[in-house]
Amino acid sequence: MLHPVYIKGFGYYVPERVLDNLELASMVNTSNEWILERTGIKERRIAAPGQTCSDLICQAARRAMDAAGCKAEEITHLLVGTVSGDDAFPATAVRVQQKLGIKGMAFDLSAACTGFIYGLQLARGLLAIEPHAKILVTAGEVLSMLTNWEDRATCVLFGDGAGAAVLSADETAPRTGNPLTVNARIEDILCNADGELSDLLFCNGAGSSFPYKLGDVVGPENFIQMNGRELFKHAVRSMSSISTQLLEKTGYGMDDIDLVVPHQANLRIITAVAERLGVPQEKVFINVHKYGNTSAVSTILGMGEALEQGVIRPGMRILINAFGAGLTWGAALLKF
Ligand code: ACO
Repeated sequence: MLHPVYIKGFGYYVPERVLDNLELASMVNTSNEWILERTGIKERRIAAPGQTCSDLICQAARRAMDAAGCKAEEITHLLVGTVSGDDAFPATAVRVQQKLGIKGMAFDLSAACTGFIYGLQLARGLLAIEPHAKILVTAGEVLSMLTNWEDRATCVLFGDGAGAAVLSADETAPRTGNPLTVNARIEDILCNADGELSDLLFCNGAGSSFPYKLGDVVGPENFIQMNGRELFKHAVRSMSSISTQLLEKTGYGMDDIDLVVPHQANLRIITAVAERLGVPQEKVFINVHKYGNTSAVSTILGMGEALEQGVIRPGMRILINAFGAGLTWGAALLKF
């Protein structure tokens, strides 16, 4: 039996630079109409030159620690969900540690867009072993640097950003007056992966499957490659089936869920999953139009904005779900 685990505070950050569809249409053969109709995305944020994944995460993490009413010295474990970290090694988590003055265990996890849900699940396990731990679960992506800006099939989809949450097993509610302060109990989580589908979305960059040597020319292989149509089908299937499994496991029905905050990859995927789950539109939080697909960050960005807008209120039960490269997928139930 796991100790109850609580999220104490959220934080998120998006870079200032807005890249809208009209500007994209001046860079590559696409149009505002096509992007809006096929994805629901109007604009996305792009990191400034030199702004790294750990820089973005630090901004989000500071907000999350403020919201949780905790200091960097109190954090015992730091997790970073990312596929676009600062370096091949060391882990982006240690860069964040250094910049924020955090000590203790720090590591990255690579589960693409499901990174935050995987991170929550790992943090629950760590808190079962060390009940006095205070865990900073973060996600950050600078997908703009992995994007082939000449490939219209992928470059319209992604955006940069970061998110963070502070977790502990302490049931005392923090009081700060900050809208991102919460005392959200993790009711349950399911995570899954299927490596048979790994070729649907990948970036082989500097990996050992695609070694480079001095003088090599950077080609399309160094950037994100994707089979969009196939991914679309698997996204809808996996996010709806794992959500249903989680509801069955916990004994809740869709009526017990006050809001769904899905991974924001594509408005049509979000709508199709909601239809399969029988969730009315007004119970689904959507901000994909503003940020595009921010990978592991997107459910934190969704919950952060929903809290600030008063859409998530104390007492509500929230379902989050995600899918990503791997393929990985997962769902979590949170009682605010
Ligand atoms: N602008 C204009 N035309 C385009 C563009 C573009 N940006 N991109 C593709 N097209 C064209 C194609 O070339 C094709 O033309 P053709 O019919 O002459 O060959 C046509 O549009 C249709 O292409 P499809 O790929 O079939 O379009 P589809 O309706 O499937 O939409 C999309 C493409 C938006 C990528 C969709 O498949 C999708 O969202 N898939 C899921 C992608 C995803 O979520 N990836 C990330 C998941 S994991 C993670 O979140 C990190």
